[in-house]
Amino acid sequence: MLTQDEIKKLVAQQAVELVQNNMTVGIGTGSTIYWLIMELGERVKQGLFFRAIPTSKRTAALAAEQNIPLAELNDVTSIDITIDGADEIDPNLQLIKGGGGALLQEKMVAAASRELLILADETKLVKQLGKFPLPLEVIPFGWKQVQRKIKEVYHIEASLRIKDNQPFVSDHGHYILDCPFQQIENPDILSYDLNAIPGVVDNGLFVNMADLVLVGYGDGRTETLHR
Ligand code: A5P
Repeated sequence: MLTQDEIKKLVAQQAVELVQNNMTVGIGTGSTIYWLIMELGERVKQGLFFRAIPTSKRTAALAAEQNIPLAELNDVTSIDITIDGADEIDPNLQLIKGGGGALLQEKMVAAASRELLILADETKLVKQLGKFPLPLEVIPFGWKQVQRKIKEVYHIEASLRIKDNQPFVSDHGHYILDCPFQQIENPDILSYDLNAIPGVVDNGLFVNMADLVLVGYGDGRTETLHR
């Protein structure tokens, strides 16, 4: 049986085949995407030319180390393909993302892409979204009001994400509230309602965004799921 890291590497090796010369490629964030960046670095050494739009400072730094040419979202009109990870994937390819706190930039890059490919190991597949606490990116000013509102409307305790004993701060200076919904019946409506709360910047539900999911299994099989 493959380890989780080996599965992540396997799907990254397959995904890299989709990146062709002169493409503009959105690059996600996280431990799965780490392997993608390593594979892309190898292709750059072999002469592949493309430009990458990173979805976080962490990804930008890793890509720069691999000599991958970087561009800003503002520098391009559209992106050929974005390849990213996810925290949960349901049978309709609706996603929860943001476990690494990069959801805002990930969603903006995905929205500008012709195609969104998600790489995952089988542990990310779920029947229904919600076990993974939904990340909510909020403005630090008055964030407790958002937390109260979530409690009032959904009867759940959203917790402020903490890192090194301090509130975790996103690349864009925001806080993250992790919301334990447990079961999300209608991701579309929930996403819309959450984003309507003053102080919420965005949430980690990616509804009707993923086109393909490349899943890797412990026995070395891979499978492509289409929306
Ligand atoms: C980053 O904010 C997330 O959306 C990641 O894409 C997600 O958490 C998956 O990360 P892993 O590949 O590390 O599981």
